[in-house]
Amino acid sequence: MRAPPSDLPIVFDQVSLQAGEVAILRGVSMVLRPGAPTALIGPNGAGKTTLIRLAASLMVPTSGRVTWGGKPGTDGARFAVVFQRPVMLRRSAAANVAYALPRCPAGERRLRTNELLLQVGLAHLAQRPARRLSGGEQQRLALARALAREPEVLFLDEPTASLDPASTKTVEDVIRTAAASGTKIVIATQNLGQARRLAADVSFMLRGRVHEVGAAEQFFHAPQTAEAAAFLNGDLVV
Ligand SMILES: Nc1ncnc2c1ncn2[C@@H]1O[C@H](COP(=O)(O)OP(=O)(O)O)[C@@H](O)[C@H]1O
Ligand SMILES: [Mg+2]
Repeated sequence: MRAPPSDLPIVFDQVSLQAGEVAILRGVSMVLRPGAPTALIGPNGAGKTTLIRLAASLMVPTSGRVTWGGKPGTDGARFAVVFQRPVMLRRSAAANVAYALPRCPAGERRLRTNELLLQVGLAHLAQRPARRLSGGEQQRLALARALAREPEVLFLDEPTASLDPASTKTVEDVIRTAAASGTKIVIATQNLGQARRLAADVSFMLRGRVHEVGAAEQFFHAPQTAEAAAFLNGDLVV
């Protein structure tokens, strides 16, 4: 078990993002605390991906601010993001992971690379050019690459969206292991079963706002807002 991450909590304070006339996020205030995984759920276009990009300082809010451990932005923070469509280096799967281990001595790097590929179920594809892998395989490779950095915070944007059930299970096991070793997981997912299985707390997003937050248990059994109830029921029309 690592010491509690110093980069946490991540605090969103009245964060808004405007693109021309379009309000993408509207006055989002939320706190991502150390501990068990947080799930971001909500319909397409609710702002989940945007929230992750803002947290990771890949975008700047139009107003409001994001702090990490009380400090502005991500300066020095140890975090990694796995995007839905990850960008692979034009090399083998193994080389993509090894690249994320720059401080590892050569022999150790090979061992650690193999270990990570094994963990995400890609050991048999180690020498395959990464860009030839299927979408789901690339998502798992991106996860291995992110874990290689031993992040304190790991953002996952719909990490199992193009995975079959067996690969989804593999990825969920990897996420659980990372969380148990002290990595804070923030996962955007359309898979409500997955949110239930993995998350301790849930932020339900709707139309650029955090509409409801709660402990996962409470949220899934007794959502507090009509919109969350409708979403869980598959009835929410945006
Ligand atoms: N650069 C942009 N310019 C205009 N609209 C954008 C931009 N980026 C995202 N959006 C819009 O913002 C909304 C939120 O997008 P996103 O964060 O991807 O939602 P989610 O991940 O919840 O599906 C969507 O309606 C999307 O089309
Ligand atoms: Mg998204």
